[in-house]
Amino acid sequence: MDILLIGSGGREHALAWGLAASPLCETLHCAPGNPGTGSVGRNVDLDISDHAAVRAFCKEKNIGLVVVGPEAPLVAGLVDDLRAGGFACFGPTKRAARLEGSKGFTKDICARYGIPTAAYAVFKTVEPALAYVREKGAPIVIKADGLAAGKGVIVAMTMKEAEDAVAFMFEGGLGPAGSQVVIEEFLDGEEASFFAICDGENALPLASAQDHKRAFDGDTGPNTGGMGAYSPAPVMTPAIEARVMREIIEPTMRAMREAGAPYTGVLYAGLMITAQGPKLIEYNARFGDPEAQVLVPRLKSDLAKLLLAAARRQLAGATVEWRAETALTIVMAARGYPGQFAKGEEIGGVDEAGAREDVFVFHAGTKRLGRRLLSNGGRVLAVTALGRDIAQAQSRAYEAILAIDWPGGFCRSDIGWRALERNDG
Ligand code: AMP
Ligand code: GLY
Repeated sequence: MDILLIGSGGREHALAWGLAASPLCETLHCAPGNPGTGSVGRNVDLDISDHAAVRAFCKEKNIGLVVVGPEAPLVAGLVDDLRAGGFACFGPTKRAARLEGSKGFTKDICARYGIPTAAYAVFKTVEPALAYVREKGAPIVIKADGLAAGKGVIVAMTMKEAEDAVAFMFEGGLGPAGSQVVIEEFLDGEEASFFAICDGENALPLASAQDHKRAFDGDTGPNTGGMGAYSPAPVMTPAIEARVMREIIEPTMRAMREAGAPYTGVLYAGLMITAQGPKLIEYNARFGDPEAQVLVPRLKSDLAKLLLAAARRQLAGATVEWRAETALTIVMAARGYPGQFAKGEEIGGVDEAGAREDVFVFHAGTKRLGRRLLSNGGRVLAVTALGRDIAQAQSRAYEAILAIDWPGGFCRSDIGWRALERNDG
């Protein structure tokens, strides 16, 4: 069968690599793809916001499975339009993707179904917001309700910071995203992500991971899309995973069915593991980037078979097998990211790095010009290594990075520090 993968990031290269390896997959098409996806499948120049064009392509190629990587096409209803055309699609409908797109929708579900999450209140004006902050005390979390490109969350450790954050948002510091402000209880603990594959009815637990959101070492600097990750996350013991499934994922599946928007696709739970147990920070309706770059290389089971079973609502009884190794990925970004950065710089040594044992170099923002490989985005490469433990995975990934010749790039030098500290302690 032919498969169509939508997207063009590092996550999509990892998914493409996994899908293309499946015996079920004849030709993998990637729209629009990147040089990495083009090395394992065929990139197609399709405008993915033109749903009729995507549908026509699926018909022409007799596509047996569509896998949607990023959030934007989900929110735009690509899955709805392809399913209406009779195509098997892995990903949530527009209504189900509200779990990622709308904080209010998710918080309502948590309240109604008893899902553990931070207590919160929503404000449209400054005075009641300040009164609430003063009543609750610091630390406290101030969030812009709209999308604010990762800058919409301020974790205020003191009352002064909290008051300043509220004032900043209502003064329009984040533009219209800050016109409605969510004030949330501070959750104290260790952060982790958990992924489950869902077919509307059933949720199959996949695996855990930990991301590194800040740009620089020691978790300092601005927030980014993610500078590195590892899987599994040691904080996620089997007992905690079982609680996450029972207390968070399964009630969410029930809520979505009862809301008439059954959830199909990958459910990515951002969690805080607190002294009282796991609590939900937020949901995403897709695989993480760079978390997919550590999940897919660890997967022993057939990725295409799993995603197809979810798309066809046939996950009941499915199981998933993992390699015993730990995976760690390091993102190489263009100097200046997440702010201003240059594009079009030549990168060497990618094939040498990727030829090393148990190392995978996933492309994100790259492009080919003849035989040359050029940078073409903020996050440019993700270098993943497998190892018997986190220390070996980390040293293999950093050794592989030494082979990459790109003076204009940078990466954090401490990816995995939290897991290593835990092992040392
Ligand atoms: P978000 O954009 O909602 O993913 O939040 C960004 C980051 O802010 C999260 O990854 C957490 O590190 C932190 N955060 C968000 N909500 C809370 C909370 N209620 N308590 C503590 N930290 C939080
Ligand atoms: N790495 C965080 C995300 O994909 O949202």
